[in-house]
Amino acid sequence: MSVSQPFSLAVLISGNGSNLQAIIDAIQNKKLDASIKLVISNRADAKGLKRAEAAGIPTLLIEHTQYSSREEFDQAMLDALKACRPDLVVLAGFMRILSAQFVSALSGKLINIHPSLLPRYKGTQTHKRALEAHDSVHGCSIHYVTEELDGGPVVAQSEVPIYPNDTEQLLAARVQKEEHQLYPFCIGLIAQTKLELIDGAPVLNKQLLTSGGIKFRQSNYDRYYLE
Ligand code: GRF
Repeated sequence: MSVSQPFSLAVLISGNGSNLQAIIDAIQNKKLDASIKLVISNRADAKGLKRAEAAGIPTLLIEHTQYSSREEFDQAMLDALKACRPDLVVLAGFMRILSAQFVSALSGKLINIHPSLLPRYKGTQTHKRALEAHDSVHGCSIHYVTEELDGGPVVAQSEVPIYPNDTEQLLAARVQKEEHQLYPFCIGLIAQTKLELIDGAPVLNKQLLTSGGIKFRQSNYDRYYLE
């Protein structure tokens, strides 16, 4: 009798790793049927490394400062990923720009979480920029990774309100709460092959997802809607 292997993940981090923790928790609470084979960090002081170790997940430190080019650093990560052959590579607060060679080697198997409603606010300081623009809503997005920074096809977004007296800290916390639900949820859809990238376009239950992908409003994960 053959025992099927759970959908396997490798998670790349640079810092706190609260999204990694949310994925670990979802697996432990049986909300996500997957296993994390490896966590790679480019920084020795990343708190996420401790989180992985506490959960008994193998970790690898690949410091970008030890490599003379982006391509060599990325190749070291690709070699490590090739050795563990994950079904999906999950960027969770990984703060390095990835080379074309890395992205194309993992095409369709590489996803990222970004703290804004893409295509608004690619890059950094997203909460500050949303407040300065006097937006009334903000949120987070999950997207497949392409060579364009924060520019790959978006598969899901969760929206939160911006209140009149908001601060960057309050808004960041509100968005992170969504991230911690949205990322495990999307990984689950991919693990069940309900969500996939076909010819560069995101597809949910065999239907093409239009711009923005699956939409959630603050913490309502029993109901999602499609535009
Ligand atoms: C998150 O806000 C994510 O959207 C961005 O980096 C942050 C990582 O946070 N890409 P953490 O390390 O998972 O706590």
